[in-house]
Amino acid sequence: MDRDHATRHLDALWQRGRDFLGTRYAIMGGAMTWVSERNLVSAISNAGGFGVIASGSMPPHILEAELKATLGMTQQPFGVNLITLHPQLDQLIDVCLDLKMTHIVLAGGLPPGGALKKIKEGGAKAVCFAPAVAIAKKLVKSGADAIVIEGMEAGGHIGPVSTSVLAQEILPVITEVPVFVAGGIGRGQAMLGYLEMGASGVQLGTRFVCATESIAHPNFKKAFIRGAARDAVPSTQIDPRFPVIPVRALANEGTRKFMDMQRQVIDRFNAGELDQKAAQLEIEHFWAGALRRAVIDGDVETGSVMAGQSVGMVTKEEPTADIIRDFIEGALAALADRRHLQG
Ligand SMILES: Cc1cc2nc3c(=O)[nH]c(=O)nc-3n(C[C@H](O)[C@H](O)[C@H](O)COP(=O)(O)O)c2cc1C
Repeated sequence: MDRDHATRHLDALWQRGRDFLGTRYAIMGGAMTWVSERNLVSAISNAGGFGVIASGSMPPHILEAELKATLGMTQQPFGVNLITLHPQLDQLIDVCLDLKMTHIVLAGGLPPGGALKKIKEGGAKAVCFAPAVAIAKKLVKSGADAIVIEGMEAGGHIGPVSTSVLAQEILPVITEVPVFVAGGIGRGQAMLGYLEMGASGVQLGTRFVCATESIAHPNFKKAFIRGAARDAVPSTQIDPRFPVIPVRALANEGTRKFMDMQRQVIDRFNAGELDQKAAQLEIEHFWAGALRRAVIDGDVETGSVMAGQSVGMVTKEEPTADIIRDFIEGALAALADRRHLQG
């Protein structure tokens, strides 16, 4: 396949995703709390991808300021990620709709029915995460305009199933809306593979952290550049009575202390010094503020250095446009290599 032919082929493969996002490439920059702010998001969109603002626990007025600032830095489409558990979800949606945001991604659990309805009636598209086929079907029925499936190779909060299995289970079944695949995608060749399996596009997080435009602290970026796939591990739960939501991050002093802390809390619970609720709260509070500490303050020893397994493929700081170009070149090279399929 020559280059022009390969480009046309790639364009056709993700045409549905490009139309849905309104972009040159159907590459979403997955929202990363503290990292995906105006600078990285506008850089991704200006480079032909689709940046997504991470709202994390922002109150509505801060989100409004961030969205306005981003609108001032790009004319290209970008989205906003809202966490469904946020106590002011309704007001956050109002902020997005007032600013005529076109795409709202709902993360962190099943969206309340009212949220989907409100987004759609307000004229925006609702994108939802589906961790299993049954949930994907339910979300489509409830009005989700697109689905993201994210495997456990990803950085941050993860489910139990790998990207490759989710893709095999969900892509053939969910055809009513575009499906974007996330988790562990480090090269254009892998991106192409998922497109050929029926994905309309991909979502990348880890690979964008060390973009020049990313405001992540130099220590955070250095940890990514040094990190290998096997360093990015899920947080460990040591007692099923005290559930821990799995988060994939680089192993450090903090992850080791988390184990010690769980052991001490459980000992105190067993000794009758703490009741179940107090013990669970102590465990849950351990990581409060820890992502900010790592991303913004550069404390990569005790902070939470959320990273996916593709961290080993992050080898330097480089402009966002180069990262995206690298993915496109990888996909085109893989297609061009298929000379044996010609004629
Ligand atoms: C540092 C970090 C923070 C993240 N924060 C969020 C978040 O706030 N909301 C969300 O939906 N996903 C979050 N994610 C997941 C990303 O949006 C994306 O889906 C994921 O990184 C894709 O997998 P990859 O890291 O293997 O590319 C985060 C990931 C990282 C690495």
